[in-house]
Amino acid sequence: MSELKTTELPLSSAERKPGDPGALGEFLGNLLGFPRIFRNSVVRHGAPTSDRAKSESVMSNFFLHVLAVRIHTHSLKLTTTLGLGIVTLALFVLLTFTGILLMVYYKPSVDQAYDSMKDIMFVVPTGRFIRNIHRWSAHAMVACVILHMARVFYTASYKKPREFNWILGMILFVLTLALSFTGYLLPWDQLAFWAITIGANIAQSPREITDALGITQFFDPGEMQKELLLGAHYVGQEALTRFYVLHVMVLPLLATIVIAVHMWRLRKDGGLARPSSADETTEGESTSTLERSRGFNLIPPMGMNPLLREKSREDRDKAPLKTWGLMAVVKGKTPAVDKELTNTVPAYPHALYAIAALTMLTTAVMLLLGYLFDAPLKEMANPAVPENPAKAPWYFLGLQEMVGYSAFMGGVGIPSLVILGLALIPYLDREREDSGVWFSGTSGRRVALVSFLYGLAVTVGILVFTVRYGWLREWYPAIPQLVITAINPGTVIVLAFAVWSILTVVYTRSTRMGAIALFTCFLISFAILTYFATVHRGPNWDFYWLPSQWPTH
Ligand code: HEM
Repeated sequence: MSELKTTELPLSSAERKPGDPGALGEFLGNLLGFPRIFRNSVVRHGAPTSDRAKSESVMSNFFLHVLAVRIHTHSLKLTTTLGLGIVTLALFVLLTFTGILLMVYYKPSVDQAYDSMKDIMFVVPTGRFIRNIHRWSAHAMVACVILHMARVFYTASYKKPREFNWILGMILFVLTLALSFTGYLLPWDQLAFWAITIGANIAQSPREITDALGITQFFDPGEMQKELLLGAHYVGQEALTRFYVLHVMVLPLLATIVIAVHMWRLRKDGGLARPSSADETTEGESTSTLERSRGFNLIPPMGMNPLLREKSREDRDKAPLKTWGLMAVVKGKTPAVDKELTNTVPAYPHALYAIAALTMLTTAVMLLLGYLFDAPLKEMANPAVPENPAKAPWYFLGLQEMVGYSAFMGGVGIPSLVILGLALIPYLDREREDSGVWFSGTSGRRVALVSFLYGLAVTVGILVFTVRYGWLREWYPAIPQLVITAINPGTVIVLAFAVWSILTVVYTRSTRMGAIALFTCFLISFAILTYFATVHRGPNWDFYWLPSQWPTH
């Protein structure tokens, strides 16, 4: 039980009666009862057998308190979230844990970093295993964060009141990429060195514009960006120090804070987005929109509810202890006094078990991957021997494919446009359809399917065309770079998708459908470009059907 029983309260010395065993007896009693007393000092509630005790378990536990006391059954269905947010969170925790272990042996200096990686792999007990888990979890986190974003998008869960949580998600998306990218340099091998060199050259890409305008000697934002990133003109000790500090301290700290706010907003926004049908009671009646969007705010505190006051103690024990603000009742159109908490279950144990199961599954998969596959470690970084092809990490390969035509557009222009476009989605699509429904229904499913085929055709078409016929530079060698900056495969793809999305809005008269069209086109295009650059690009960025056909050197 939550309160300490009066018999458990210690007596003051003045309260002891003659004949009491005295302080020594009490001391012995305390010693024998230590396990029970200690448990009660930590866990301040009894076994969670009633709804009330389950509520208390959640409310009085620092970690569980992140959950609402009761959770909607719709949120617990695997099809609602596919578990992707929790898996991403579990990966972040796993990365933090394995990262701290790696820090014990890693030395962030250009002379020692590579050797310390070798030590971790070949000398430190379980070092290779820990490094493998860290590396595969990092890749998995990037993939899961993208899939989680897609799930939130396709279920329209970014709509009011969750717009800001979508923005927080966007920040987490960028932080995840930054975490992965900064970690890439740390092994200080050829792979790391040349991947980051490409990244730094992309940072320098505004030069493409300033060079064309002939103003680089007065205004050189490209060089400023590169130096900010590397701390020098080249990838060296300054860069390694910066990347290390960002990777082990600044970015994880920022990510932890933003994840905490992301989770807090989940609760404040009324739990996960759900369709109105999910709130239907057995009699088929549905709770109001306001009640849905605010969670369970419309249930007045127990003491204020005359009907509940009359209920038996047993009934009251079944009720959750949490009280709900009266404010929403005042604001709402239909006071929902004495309504049951429709279709909800106590978060403890239901949500807790689901989260624990997903976390264990994620950890098990990563342990298995770490056991079966070694993370790559090439030769030590050598600035004199360029890797050919030097490829960026997989999630940037789609952009690298575009960078070949215009470093500015591929590396800065298009990604900035995509990030900005994604961030604005909740503010540009404000239609009041149901959140929490995949593709917003049948028409959305159809739009997604057709857009998938359209995005596929456009991207594959452009790739086949450029491999077969080349692009402007091959046809007109003297063409100014500014023209290619404006007209290149990347900008053509973006334009084709924008036109498609506008046509969808006009045809369906729905901004949500336009958003589905645009998002789907970009998602499939990203997947194809990533696959293409991974598998079909070889030395000198030439096309090969298979990596086994690369010339040996
Ligand atoms: C480190 C990265 C992230 C973590 C750890 C994380 C974690 C979570 C978790 C645990 C949930 C609960 C539902 C679920 O499991 O799916 C959630 C929901 C949500 N996330 Fe994320 N998230 C991350 C990134 C993102 C990104 C990139 C976006 C979008 C740009 C996003 C937007 C949202 C929104 C809007 C919700 C509420 C969804 C709903 O009500 O159904 N999150 N997130």
